[in-house]
Amino acid sequence: MGCQYFDPCDHGADTFTIAIPKLTFGRGCLREAGARAAGLGMTRVGLFTDPGLRDSTYFETVLESLKQAGLDIAVFDEVTIEADDASVERGATFIAEGNFDGVVSIGGGSVIDTAKASMLYGLHPPDEFLDYFAPPLGAGRPMPRSLLPHLACPTTSGTGSECTSISVLRINDMATKFVLANPVLLPQEALIDPACSDTLPAMVVASTGFDLLCHALECYTAKAYTRWDRQDDPLKRPLIQGANPWSDLAARRALEIAGEYLERGVNSADDHEARDNLMWGASLAGMAFGNTGTHLGHALSYGVTHLMHDITTEGYRVKSPFVPHGISVVVSAPAIFRYTAEATPERHYEAASYLQSDLQGAGIDDAGEALAKRLIGLMRKTEVPNGLGGVGFGLADVPALAASSARQVRAIANSPRETNLVDIENIYAAAISY
Ligand SMILES: [Fe+2]
Repeated sequence: MGCQYFDPCDHGADTFTIAIPKLTFGRGCLREAGARAAGLGMTRVGLFTDPGLRDSTYFETVLESLKQAGLDIAVFDEVTIEADDASVERGATFIAEGNFDGVVSIGGGSVIDTAKASMLYGLHPPDEFLDYFAPPLGAGRPMPRSLLPHLACPTTSGTGSECTSISVLRINDMATKFVLANPVLLPQEALIDPACSDTLPAMVVASTGFDLLCHALECYTAKAYTRWDRQDDPLKRPLIQGANPWSDLAARRALEIAGEYLERGVNSADDHEARDNLMWGASLAGMAFGNTGTHLGHALSYGVTHLMHDITTEGYRVKSPFVPHGISVVVSAPAIFRYTAEATPERHYEAASYLQSDLQGAGIDDAGEALAKRLIGLMRKTEVPNGLGGVGFGLADVPALAASSARQVRAIANSPRETNLVDIENIYAAAISY
């Protein structure tokens, strides 16, 4: 592709695949839900949301629009924050019994992820819940080639789930989260209405904003796709395929947006320019990581959500223990990028620049430190927990955290720097506080 980072490697991939939905972005665009659902051929709609949104004006706008379009609608609002197998089993029953020809979801990543998985499990139930997950957790059962058309409407500025073929689910018995990833889970269309972010509490904007920032940063610094093995069967090319020219474009702009608007968007609900841009940045970062895969930031967040105890976060109406996804990612991020910068310093330097890091007097070899300082500065200005210590972990927890996160094998292998269990322990130890 004429770019050094993607130079060919022996036995390495020489092809990448990009999958994104049709997107509509703009204030008030939720009013298009009915016309867009009808345009996708829907006549009877399964409408997914969560109990907190059921009484919101956003949900009402979508519901009214669907009614105006003459569509028959049934509502499923039993999604839990942090989508889990129990909500998916309820959603699957709703789909199996509903005789729907399309699905509309309105909510954060949990709602959209539950809608995706509910279609899969409701229309094509496996023998065991874990069958569709990749080994060693599951059986790697092939997914069907198609589900129902899905129109996804995000109400938070972080997960980018409306743009990805991924559903992240908590498996309650195992107290941890795993990822379902397959092109069949990609919504056909997304309606991204930034007005939905007007009423978000500051800590929700902070958590989702750091999620989008880390999606973009992990994509931009991920191992190049040409360094993954070539996949001869085109339909088996994995979603975690490494950085590529497409993800560079989307991740770069998402980093610029996070650098410009994250602090403003968190600290002022009236700053529509900032919050609108964060909504767009979240979708861009989703379009990037859905076609790249994340790496250590997200891999190491799984240990945090697996082992968290006696903690909740301001702004979320949920039971303890709960650490919002974006916070679980960013608490380790400064230590991670100090570690990975050595492998691809130029990429880290570029990313630091897009994020408006202070690079005065900094050379390429200072990129990891500049990035870490910028992240820590943003964490302080947005009052998110200061490292793992801020979410209840200490040095004694490091071996268990590392053992838990080490199960995210492919994401860890997407890191630009080869990373073993001892490296992960060292990163966690360096992430206790900043
Ligand atoms: Fe994420």
